[in-house]
Amino acid sequence: MKNKGLLTAVAVIVIVLGGFALFQGFQKDNKSAKTTTSTTSNQKQYTVGVLQLMSHPALDQIYEGIKEGLAEEGLKEGENLTINFQNGQGDQSKLNTMSQQLVQDKSEVLIGIATPAAQALDNNVKKKDIPIVLGAVTDPEGAGLVASNDAPGANITGVSDQPPVEEIIALAKKMLPNAKKVGMLYASSEANSKFQVAKASEKAKELGMEVVNKPVASTNEVAQTVQILANEVDFVFIPLDNTIANAMETVAQEAEKQKLPVFPSVETMVQQGGVATIGISQKELGVQTGKMAAQIVKGEAEPATTPIFTFSKGETIINQKQAEALEIHLSDELTKDARFTE
Ligand code: TRP
Repeated sequence: MKNKGLLTAVAVIVIVLGGFALFQGFQKDNKSAKTTTSTTSNQKQYTVGVLQLMSHPALDQIYEGIKEGLAEEGLKEGENLTINFQNGQGDQSKLNTMSQQLVQDKSEVLIGIATPAAQALDNNVKKKDIPIVLGAVTDPEGAGLVASNDAPGANITGVSDQPPVEEIIALAKKMLPNAKKVGMLYASSEANSKFQVAKASEKAKELGMEVVNKPVASTNEVAQTVQILANEVDFVFIPLDNTIANAMETVAQEAEKQKLPVFPSVETMVQQGGVATIGISQKELGVQTGKMAAQIVKGEAEPATTPIFTFSKGETIINQKQAEALEIHLSDELTKDARFTE
């Protein structure tokens, strides 16, 4: 009996001690786990400010790409990166207040998506002390953002989305061999568009076509302008213009009514009712922009000496449904390197 009592007591002690030891070990584990998490949060944290001009499908894809590009260079949201994102909804006064906000938020690098957003950021970084990365600005030099595309010279560099406009005009002429007049549809306020339209016009004239310029002052004029163009020209060319991109559904609707072929400069606008384009992937533009921003914020690149990045080759994209509706013959030559979109 006595012995049994002793045994029980010993057993209890062993269990209690064992339990305690286990508990200690547990705590220790917990502690070491804590230390590792605190080292992760001691990692350098980055703050990136992004100002997007407005929402249209192409700019939205660029922003998606930017997040991917930052991540590829090791800057990940929820780990070591805070992105302050602002969308100006195409409103100049919003672009200015949002730029000021992003500067106040202590952004270490600012990204401007589209020309007017980049210009607003530039105007609000007064001392040129925060680097700015251009996300898809067609003509950085012409927009007064850099000294030159090869040697930007100050706090700004980035990615140009310049599409191969001459090739697009040549493609349109191949699809519509009898075309004699081409209409240029763009917004008078967009510096990026004037640059592209000038190049497209030159090519059109070289191919023996006459050019009709139709700049619009705002989205409100788009429907009527397309109707006017339908009576005057054989097809319409649209550069990478934000105002028109934002009104592409209206353009497509009016053009369809009038059987007017439309050749935009980006895949998203072909999907929305254009006939064809030779375009650059908007997502890729974004990825490149994100990578550049990350390299700059990590101190691996200097804006002043980093040339503007341009893509050299576009992809031919055809909207088969539109081509068929307009009775455009798609020869093997036209389709051999092309991708079809819905
Ligand atoms: N290039 C335009 C700018 O400089 C922005 C842009 C990028 C865009 N992709 C586009 C505009 C597609 C219209 C459609 O502002």
